[in-house]
Amino acid sequence: MHTAHSQATSTALPVVSISELNKSYFTRRGDVEALRSIEISIHPGEFVSFVGPSGCGKSTLLKIIAGLEDYQSGKVEVFGDPPKPGRRDVGIMLQSPVLLPWRTVLSNVVLPVEIMRGDLRAAKERAREIIDLVGLSKFTDKYGWELSGGMQQRVSLARLLLLDPDIMLLDEPFSALDEFNREKLTLELSSLHTRFQRTAVYVTHSIAEAVLLSDRVVVLKPHPGEVLEVVAIDLPRPRTAETLQSVEAFELVRRIRAMLFSHDEGIAQ
Ligand SMILES: Nc1ncnc2c1ncn2[C@@H]1O[C@H](COP(=O)(O)OP(=O)(O)OP(=O)(O)O)[C@@H](O)[C@H]1O
Ligand SMILES: [Mg+2]
Repeated sequence: MHTAHSQATSTALPVVSISELNKSYFTRRGDVEALRSIEISIHPGEFVSFVGPSGCGKSTLLKIIAGLEDYQSGKVEVFGDPPKPGRRDVGIMLQSPVLLPWRTVLSNVVLPVEIMRGDLRAAKERAREIIDLVGLSKFTDKYGWELSGGMQQRVSLARLLLLDPDIMLLDEPFSALDEFNREKLTLELSSLHTRFQRTAVYVTHSIAEAVLLSDRVVVLKPHPGEVLEVVAIDLPRPRTAETLQSVEAFELVRRIRAMLFSHDEGIAQ
């Protein structure tokens, strides 16, 4: 299955293509070079993760792909066009969940469908299934303000899964979760990806998580963020809890860890 998938991706046109991308933030208190010479093409159905130290520009990159942040030079194309916000085929889960505190879990999940004047009845039905999938069925009618950080992240993920965009941009979706739920949801996401073959661009601090989920892992170095190496993850799919116990997975985690540590500059400021 994985082989067929790899063959398909190598011939298809990229869904996201980035070349020579440079991005700086200009503020009154000084300029920050966030990304330098980023070069990467992401193919249909591919799962690509970005790992790198805090402040190396991962969130900036996702926001650029989503059309939420501009850039100074280089070329970024999403389905052949410059990025723009509000595309229905591109969905982003931001690093900090954006929920309406006075709405329930269910009505937060269906909010975009409501805004787009879609079929709300069908959306609610499907939303209940997804809320169950992310382990929140007992909380369907709780209000946003009643939820823990980890629960808010899962609501945010459910909202993205309901929209089911062709490209999913996920910024540390499980960072606030306990280890048990984190592993469960990572495996769930992997199985959804294997089933539906959406393109995923994923940001995480967990190397093991990146290896478990991805077809390729892009390792970034800090200040400014530059691509150190793109590592192909040729582990068989479907991936399971046992996948990470294999010698091959262990070796990949070790390699990526060594790359990150070789560019360690102490704690990022
Ligand atoms: N709106 C902004 N204005 C000015 N500087 C910014 C802004 N957003 C990000 N930066 C700076 O750009 C750099 C990259 O930030 P970014 O949020 O993309 O990093 P990150 O890799 O997502 O970090 P983390 O892992 O901590 O989430 C940092 O130095 C940050 O201070
Ligand atoms: Mg970030």
